[in-house]
Amino acid sequence: MRSPLPDYLTEVLDGCADTSGAVADYIPGLAGVDPDRFAISLLTADGTSYSVGDDETEFTIQSVSKPFVYGLALQERGFEKVLDVIDVEPSGEAFNEVSLERNTGRPLNPMINAGALAAHALVLNGRRSEQAVESIRSLLSSLAGRELVVDEEVAASELENSYRNVAIANLLRGYEVFEDDPDEIVEGYIRQCSVTVTTKDLAMMAATLATGGIQPVTGEQIFSRDVVRQVLSVMATCGMYDAAGDWLSTVGIPAKSGVSGGIIGILPGQLGIAAYSPRLDEHGTSVQGVAAFGRLSRDMNLHLMDAPMLAHSVLRRRRVVGEGDAALTILELQGDLNFTNSEGIIRAVVDEPVETKRLALDLSLVRAILSVGRRMLLEMIGRLHLDGTEVIVIDPDERLPDPDAGYGFRPRVYGSLEDVEESQPDAGAQTEPERGHSARK
Ligand code: DON
Repeated sequence: MRSPLPDYLTEVLDGCADTSGAVADYIPGLAGVDPDRFAISLLTADGTSYSVGDDETEFTIQSVSKPFVYGLALQERGFEKVLDVIDVEPSGEAFNEVSLERNTGRPLNPMINAGALAAHALVLNGRRSEQAVESIRSLLSSLAGRELVVDEEVAASELENSYRNVAIANLLRGYEVFEDDPDEIVEGYIRQCSVTVTTKDLAMMAATLATGGIQPVTGEQIFSRDVVRQVLSVMATCGMYDAAGDWLSTVGIPAKSGVSGGIIGILPGQLGIAAYSPRLDEHGTSVQGVAAFGRLSRDMNLHLMDAPMLAHSVLRRRRVVGEGDAALTILELQGDLNFTNSEGIIRAVVDEPVETKRLALDLSLVRAILSVGRRMLLEMIGRLHLDGTEVIVIDPDERLPDPDAGYGFRPRVYGSLEDVEESQPDAGAQTEPERGHSARK
């Protein structure tokens, strides 16, 4: 069977055809692009790519670089420093607004130019400009999974026309938001904006934010989960500038646009999306790109605030094997252990108390355990232990490494139910933990 997805995406491309809007011309190097280019690329969190239209066309990344450079600043300088320099409040203003916090001069958020210039300065961190640009180019390349280059011609043309960014950078310097030469910051920032990409690259970069920072194809952990959460939060609230509220309520996908016509969007845990079409609306955002995102969000139920499907029960099966003192209640768990799923497991044990002396938590089908899930599971194990139930864990993939249940108790861990049974040769005998031959510490 041929996948229906490329056909569907082609239909979206055709359905969103619109020649309104205008190509950005305040950057001379952008004015000459083919206005009719249009591409959409998706990359699922497991690394599958679907892509249609002019997806090999290269264009400069422009403001779509801002969330990634903010992430780099967070990673390299730490949250405290970065939050001290750049706020996270939506400004509701255009991207190039001279908008700084009263008295302090602190930029309101890292998505508008003022905040992006400050983020660039944080990455620069007293080094030479070329070094900062190189670390940004190299980061963007790791995210895209291929070597990207700076379009020096577009950069030079923007630099000649960068009066507004120079003004903002000088104000920032005046307020001592950074101590570097403002011209150097503007030049580095403009070169950061001039890294060339395709929609396939952008979808890959977006998907890396969808997976908690792991590049879906190379498997490299590029950003920590905390950094990704922060970056996505400011994208959701500030990524679309003065259209951010309208975008979040109608499209509902954390996103970032750029004046060359690129847009990225991220559905956490699901996919990264990129669109490219150079004609822009009054916010400096691609007209066809906005239409494509709106259509994808509606058709594919991608709105972040749509109530997610209720997780199916994490307790797959409850059964008792063996008899007498050796009888073992087995709770077979599955899926992801977040707060709600873990609460379901605890409730299952509270509502229907375990009547055997031994209980096995079988984690063989558990995919991931969040820190809250781990804490809740261990607390449950500890309390069952205090109540006199011997708890063991079947955990072939080490989803619950080094389980310390507190109360001076560590459950024994086995690779499979067979291992548990083998460690109990005499079905009627009392458990002798030390002899469980495949038990882990
Ligand atoms: O600073 C500028 O004006 C450009 N290098 C980037 C602006 C941009 O992409 C705004 N987004 N829509």
